[in-house]
Amino acid sequence: MSVGGFQKVTYSKEMVRQSFDSASQNYNEHTSLQRLIGDRLLLHKKAQNHANQSVLDIGAGTGYLTKKLFELNEVKDVYALDIAIGMLKHARHYLGTSQAKGVICADAEKLPLNDGVMDVIYSNLAFQWCENLEKVFAQAHRVLQPKGLFVFSTFGPATLTELKSSWQQSDKAVHVNSFVGEEVIRQALQRAGFYDITILTDNIVNYYSSPKQLMVSLKGMGAHNMNQGRRLGLTGVKSFKAMLKAYESLRTEQGVPATFQAVYVYAKKGE
Ligand SMILES: C[S@@+](CC[C@H](N)C(=O)[O-])C[C@H]1O[C@@H](n2cnc3c(N)ncnc32)[C@H](O)[C@@H]1O
Repeated sequence: MSVGGFQKVTYSKEMVRQSFDSASQNYNEHTSLQRLIGDRLLLHKKAQNHANQSVLDIGAGTGYLTKKLFELNEVKDVYALDIAIGMLKHARHYLGTSQAKGVICADAEKLPLNDGVMDVIYSNLAFQWCENLEKVFAQAHRVLQPKGLFVFSTFGPATLTELKSSWQQSDKAVHVNSFVGEEVIRQALQRAGFYDITILTDNIVNYYSSPKQLMVSLKGMGAHNMNQGRRLGLTGVKSFKAMLKAYESLRTEQGVPATFQAVYVYAKKGE
């Protein structure tokens, strides 16, 4: 279903919050993918000079990218914002007393910040869990100064294709989060008032000892299936076994593959 140009997803905000709150305890054991994508997000030349600028990290989680932003040359202030208090507790600890002053528990769709207070907004792998990207982009646009920079990563539609196709061989229910594509993101950014948009993509293939190990890892990241179309009960168990069998047929010498399509976005607010 398409709503305002976006594929309609049915994440409940409370489920997202709870999912990341409960993942927060062991989250850092499962973050090599997020860290790799966060590091790559910062490699682009547009993401390097923030001297004397105020920077906001939305969906900061346990603070990995936030700390990297603090380390950028002569940055003025960095604020870490997240909807899950459990994640922010870890971020506070990781950032230490002086850097943790700007930790904010809030929703990306309702930023509790005045208009035009940030020079730069970053976000690493958070927007794919937001219910309404139009609202997220409108809020980012509102709190940025004129000419402010908006930089984020998200997952693209090729993410977890192996898992999706394995489920499709077992039943018709929705089991895997759906992710929007490059063109949808570009148009939504333009509607929100952004221009000079650069979008890059990168397919990262990770290998797991088994499909179950992939699922444990997704759960550890807080990224297990949050679609409400999932099925439970006896039929669910049967489908699950069929999915595992289909997934096993994809095994290579390195293990079972899982594709993560990283989408890196750089955009500017107009004058
Ligand atoms: C996959 S984690 C990424 C965390 C961090 N940026 C990193 O790179 O490790 C996604 C984060 O987005 C947060 N999040 C999800 N929906 C949000 C929303 N609507 N507003 C603010 N944060 C949100 C989650 O609580 C979680 O901490």
